[in-house]
Amino acid sequence: MKPINVGLLGIGTVGGGTFTVLERNADEIARRAGRPIRIDVVADTNLDLAKKVTGGRCRLTGDAFAVTGDPNVDIVVELIGGCGVAKDLVLAAIDRGKHVVTANKALLANHGNEIFAAAQRRGVTVAFEAAVAGGIPIIKALREGLTANRIEWIAGIINGTTNFILSEMRDKGLPFAAALAEAQRLGYAEADPTFDVEGIDAAHKLTIMSAIAFGNSMKFGDAHIEGISRLDSSDIKYAEQLGYRIKLLGITRRAAQGVELRVHPALISARRLIANVEGAMNAVLVKGDAVGATLYYGKGAGAEPTASAVIADLVDVARMLTADPEHRVPHLAFQPEAIVELPILPISEIVSSYYLRLRVEDRPGVLADITRILADHQISIEAMIQREPGEGEEQADIIMLTHQTREKNIDEAIVRIEQLPVITGRVTRLRLEGLL
Ligand code: HSE
Repeated sequence: MKPINVGLLGIGTVGGGTFTVLERNADEIARRAGRPIRIDVVADTNLDLAKKVTGGRCRLTGDAFAVTGDPNVDIVVELIGGCGVAKDLVLAAIDRGKHVVTANKALLANHGNEIFAAAQRRGVTVAFEAAVAGGIPIIKALREGLTANRIEWIAGIINGTTNFILSEMRDKGLPFAAALAEAQRLGYAEADPTFDVEGIDAAHKLTIMSAIAFGNSMKFGDAHIEGISRLDSSDIKYAEQLGYRIKLLGITRRAAQGVELRVHPALISARRLIANVEGAMNAVLVKGDAVGATLYYGKGAGAEPTASAVIADLVDVARMLTADPEHRVPHLAFQPEAIVELPILPISEIVSSYYLRLRVEDRPGVLADITRILADHQISIEAMIQREPGEGEEQADIIMLTHQTREKNIDEAIVRIEQLPVITGRVTRLRLEGLL
């Protein structure tokens, strides 16, 4: 089937990630979308960079307005950012009847009302999953998955830079300035970190979520915004002594007279899951009246996590342009003709790490016998402890953690270990999942 042609505006970090992931997963994406999605043309002021990233496998131009008006382009992806030329380009694309995908939170928080009105008039879609919390599909969750609910509140860690800084301040006892310098050294924070550390980036994202949650228009100008630059590391320490962590939270809540819309540092009980979101990760809690509290966690920035959200929007638009309304989202996510028959593996073929507990006679050579059997089956030990025999006991417990291996290896090794005369009873075997 004829591919969907994408015009990509901006091939920086996220644009590059989008190009790479679209190429790498082209077959799988086409099986889901119902037709191939290809980047037909890229516009960037840095044509050398564009050539390097694309390897010359699509058209390049320095004129982004030529892309918004290009009759070959079905969808315009705006990854330039900011409210300057990006706004003109998005409005120009809409005016030319193009669907738009954007990751531009500042643009939508500040000018979303105007942009959505223009798209409504022109009958095109503006999709923006990548604008909030990078790779976490929170827009889809709010707009579709939770659609039965009266949303009561949303609270999110939606800026990775500030969360990284707060983690550094807590873990290493660093003052704000030193933690910021570390974030800059590692590339988490921009040279001018104002948008992140003063809470503006988080407020852009919160404004978008709030509008979707409550059916409100975008009201970024009314948000209360406090950042973390005046936070003292002693407060992080005292909060911890009281059982709390300090996080930069974006909170929006439906109240009797209106909506709370606020970004500021806040104490959260260390026992809450969201308090344990560390480093540059993002997490969003959504409380619905029917479902209760739900939590969404993942990478909120970066080339491929954000590309993941951009491409999800591209697939949505491609399905809309391709399928009958009744068959827009395939039952099994892939188009019916793209379903394949993959075998489900027997449990003996899975790969896992293992916890083993063995009860053994406490005498020389026992451990050597056990480790020899494990080595014979290519099983590597990651950690081991031995619990000495108690008063009057002759036997000791040995507990081992293994590196990853195929389950049949561990099962064969256990059969042999249990035949050793120094082993008492059965070996206890539990799977240990790294979930990486
Ligand atoms: N600068 C943002 C963050 C990512 O630190 O989370 C893009 O919004």
